[in-house]
Amino acid sequence: MKKHALQSLWEIMEMLHQVDQMESALSGTLDLILEIAECEEGSVWILNREDKRYYAMIHAGKKDISGFSVAAGESIVGKVAAGGASEYLKQGSSGLAQAYPLSTEQGAEIPQNMLCIPLKNIHESLGCILLTNLKEELSEDDRRICENMASLLAMVMEEKGFSAQPNQGRKPMIVLRNVIKEYGSGETVNQVLKGIDLEIFENELLVVLGESGCGKSTMLNIIGGMDTMTHGELTIDGKDMSRPTEEELTNYRRNFVGFIFQNYNLMPNLTAQENIEFIAEIVENPMDSAAALDMVGLKGREGNFPSQMSGGQQQRVSIARAFAKRPRLILADEPTAALDFQTGQEVLMVMENAIKQTGTTIVMITHNVEIAKMANRVVKLKNGKVHSIRVNLHPLSASELVW
Ligand SMILES: Nc1ncnc2c1ncn2[C@@H]1O[C@H](COP(=O)(O)OP(=O)(O)OP(=O)(O)O)[C@@H](O)[C@H]1O
Ligand SMILES: [Mg+2]
Repeated sequence: MKKHALQSLWEIMEMLHQVDQMESALSGTLDLILEIAECEEGSVWILNREDKRYYAMIHAGKKDISGFSVAAGESIVGKVAAGGASEYLKQGSSGLAQAYPLSTEQGAEIPQNMLCIPLKNIHESLGCILLTNLKEELSEDDRRICENMASLLAMVMEEKGFSAQPNQGRKPMIVLRNVIKEYGSGETVNQVLKGIDLEIFENELLVVLGESGCGKSTMLNIIGGMDTMTHGELTIDGKDMSRPTEEELTNYRRNFVGFIFQNYNLMPNLTAQENIEFIAEIVENPMDSAAALDMVGLKGREGNFPSQMSGGQQQRVSIARAFAKRPRLILADEPTAALDFQTGQEVLMVMENAIKQTGTTIVMITHNVEIAKMANRVVKLKNGKVHSIRVNLHPLSASELVW
């Protein structure tokens, strides 16, 4: 038996009147709406005023989607939250897969019937509530009750000053604004990056996921000063680096950034130690090569040439080389793609340990969604754009990963 509408509204008013924490207000409202809709799966998405994205703050159901975010206008969440009118999508309707804020590569199954209700008060829209896998469409009355509950929540959120600020107070180290990269010209122009907006924070491990060809390496190379953009802005430590001089660029690549590649990129005729010293010579305050090798567990291997080491060991030398520069930022393009599970995991553990010791910010590209579990945030690129950003509230350690 469904509860009487008035009773539900009464309950929610009472509940919202009492709460003093946003999480309780959101989960209490979600529970009541799920009950009316006779549905088991839903999420509440809230606008973060700093980066203008909508974050999944609360979820109910099997799949934990908390921390995911989308931009205004993207997916049913971004559309309803920004547009302000609720929307129902029936199973089988075209565009259902695109409307879902998560994609299948993130391990999501495309849900059946979806209802998205805006969280808006008289001033503005603060986000939305998404119900998925509904058994059937709600009656007009039930839908209006749910909309009213969502509006009540939005009023209370404004009144009590609740807002989503997952990166509150953190100053981004690197900011990309509307970064566009095109190859070719005229009619054959190929836009590879179509307006990337992204912030990278000090001391975080940011993992970049996305299908082959979506522009991951292109973006990484632009961040690392190895490639230039066609339009847009890049700010490093508050300094505009969108159109750097040759000197600024060299200086940035040399002192600020370290690189780790899939195929290690070691000099074959130099020993492990020489491979590190050779890079360290050009920077101001390098780590001692022996200390760097020790940090990656290769003490005693100083004199080995790359050909005398396994893939995992070679990758560890390249990690030692990257960290030996004491860079603020390390960019890693699929560092474990060429390695088997166990070796790959060992390499990640070595990186994790080096991050802990040095506090370096890492941006790491991978195809492996399991690896994304150790990130502080996960950015998913799709077709040259940021598709979603997820904040991992509880990152796993590399030793807990399995693939
Ligand atoms: N120098 C270039 N000239 C023309 N097109 C390029 C160039 N470099 C990259 N592209 C194109 O840009 C697109 C994105 O390439 P990118 O290497 O960034 O993809 P990716 O996401 O890193 O893919 P993968 O996972 O396979 O490494 C591809 O379609 C690629 O063909
Ligand atoms: Mg690539």
